[in-house]
Amino acid sequence: MSINVKQLAAEKAVEYVQDGMKVGLGTGSTAYWAIRKLGERVNEGLKITAVATSQASEDQARELGIPLVSFSEVDSLDLTIDGADELDGTLQLIKGGGGALLREKIVAMGSTRMIVVADESKAVTTLGKFPLPVEIVPFAWEWTVADLAKLGCKPELRRSGDELYKTDNGNYIADCRFEAIASAADLALSLQRIPGVVEHGLFIGIASMAIVGKSDGTIEIIEVDSGR
Ligand code: 5RP
Repeated sequence: MSINVKQLAAEKAVEYVQDGMKVGLGTGSTAYWAIRKLGERVNEGLKITAVATSQASEDQARELGIPLVSFSEVDSLDLTIDGADELDGTLQLIKGGGGALLREKIVAMGSTRMIVVADESKAVTTLGKFPLPVEIVPFAWEWTVADLAKLGCKPELRRSGDELYKTDNGNYIADCRFEAIASAADLALSLQRIPGVVEHGLFIGIASMAIVGKSDGTIEIIEVDSGR
């Protein structure tokens, strides 16, 4: 039987959740396993409250009986567990493959701690092979895409079938193929200067731990001081 490495990493991360915590629920096929395990622990008596980073994760949590609260009821979270599309050795991340990067960043930044869960294919030396998702407003998207291209990438508007993909916030996603990002910090600054950019999928100095599941059944834990 082959090992589900995403499940392996996600379930390890759930061991860090303790009674009384306020937890951020990530989005994607790895976060799915974390939410599932959290649901099991809640049904065994774990007392937590949670907020979700997407409609899909909220629906899953509600179905499992995980108590959800609104953002007006909590001013910060203890821990967010979320996936990533790429992570490097210093825990700089590319996120947004599932289109939830804006909500994911808001929730992760509002958490004392972010644990990333991933399979080993996501661990890279240099970020950028995975096209960087950038959430942009629909207004004048053509100009925003042109500005993104000036940063040295090939931006492509994400599609969903025949339609342009829309995020939970009603925006578009431009997937920007850089191949290699020499300085994630410099690129983040350049992206923030483009008015049509709502948020980008570079997470820098946010995660303090990554749990990486490997096909041999082991896990690697990477810890950094995120400086937060
Ligand atoms: C969604 C994300 C996901 O965390 C990322 O795409 C990883 O997803 P998966 O665990 O399915 O590979 O950023 O916006």
